[in-house]
Amino acid sequence: MAALSKEELRSRVDADFDRVVDLLSRKVALKSVSAEGITGEHMRRSAQFVADELKERGVDAKVVQSKNPDGTPGAFEVVGSKIVDSDAPTVLLYAHHDVQPVPDASAWDTDPFVATEIDGRLYGRGATDDSGGIAIHSGALHALGDDLKVNIKVFIEGEEEMGSPSFIPFIEAHQDEFDSDVIIVADSGNWSAEIPSLTTSLRGNTDLDVTVKALEHPVHSGQFGGPILDTNTLSSMLIASMYDENGSLNIPGLEGGDPVGGLQRDLDEASVRADSSVVDSYRFAGTGSLASRLWTKPSISVIGFDAHPVEGSFNVIANETRFRISIRTAPNQRPEAAAKAVADFLTSHAPFGAEVSASMVDAGMGWSMDPNAEATQDALESMREAFGVDPINKGEGGSIPFIPELQRIFPDAQVLVTGPEDPKGNAHSPNESVDLTSLKNNVLTEALILTKLAR
Ligand code: BES
Ligand code: MN
Repeated sequence: MAALSKEELRSRVDADFDRVVDLLSRKVALKSVSAEGITGEHMRRSAQFVADELKERGVDAKVVQSKNPDGTPGAFEVVGSKIVDSDAPTVLLYAHHDVQPVPDASAWDTDPFVATEIDGRLYGRGATDDSGGIAIHSGALHALGDDLKVNIKVFIEGEEEMGSPSFIPFIEAHQDEFDSDVIIVADSGNWSAEIPSLTTSLRGNTDLDVTVKALEHPVHSGQFGGPILDTNTLSSMLIASMYDENGSLNIPGLEGGDPVGGLQRDLDEASVRADSSVVDSYRFAGTGSLASRLWTKPSISVIGFDAHPVEGSFNVIANETRFRISIRTAPNQRPEAAAKAVADFLTSHAPFGAEVSASMVDAGMGWSMDPNAEATQDALESMREAFGVDPINKGEGGSIPFIPELQRIFPDAQVLVTGPEDPKGNAHSPNESVDLTSLKNNVLTEALILTKLAR
């Protein structure tokens, strides 16, 4: 039988696209927020929805509840396979069905859980991260239908946004369900809605909880203020001491790197400013290419800070302050090593001899692509065909920590990191969205990749 033509695939993707958008809209409505309880019924329902959808696409899919390392029940994962030919290569399709929380729905212009199309973009929580990834896999499998010439395995995770706590025991218990030649991780994105990208690197992520203590108990701020600084101020000094005058992190042992595979094009400052919503007067911190600052150098954000709320505050000197920092690590540095470097720095730079302690909460490794892998070339060619323009290599500052774990267990698997995101997608933010033309081209790209991999 003749191989499927590009044109035939494109018209199949076109004809099916309303279904894909409807699927994505129904997925958004499921509110699969893992932060509201990984083991909750809402997460089981979301996993079952995805498994049912994959069954429609001919995948023998089921929901399996994982176990955490301590043996307690974990996430509702979707696993499945569609084996067409035992001699053909096997491709594992990955996405995650959990989504970020919506702490403030009033910050959205539309209901976050009612998918709404405006000017060619579909708005809703998870529309791009990463229910859009599920939509891509569904569309690609539909387009290929009975012409699929590779074996498919599927893993749709239920706890990615929580750092995949049960992933390692799960994969160890289900090695057969993961064993594959190529892994397509549709949880990242493109240079822009118009220009496709393979993701060349991801940063790692590790959190540290830091406590700064100066007094056994709070005291009167008039009686003792002056020689005794409150621990909110001391914490702020400690945090600021991690940076040099350019706003670059200056911590011995915390590594940085250059964009993987060379930088084809640097990010444009004006676009990053617009996409991030930064105020006009703000100057970007750090030095070097913007790409290296966002993708391959480390960064630190204070993501939690326990201080008295302004409302109802009174005249005392805070005696102890706790805060959490999230460290984005260079793609190839072990996160434990990065966390230790930062913890050592903080505990040895206590302002005015305050007591500082730091403990690691979580650690996920970064990743960098093998530019020489055969599948990489197939993917770049598929992107060129589907989008009609040359792809641009792109790193990502975000993290997908299960990838290096998977590569550790299956060192020969070639990993392709793709996905529906683009810089206007507002992943993790209010008004998250996906560009529908781009999503359609992503579906076609994946169908083309699966066709080429059959060779
Ligand atoms: N899809 C993102 C990762 C990502 C972000 C890729 C931006 C490309 C661009 C993923 O779902 C995510 O947010 N991961 C978490 C992992 C963390 C919980 C360890 C992250 O990066 O915060
Ligand atoms: Mn994601």
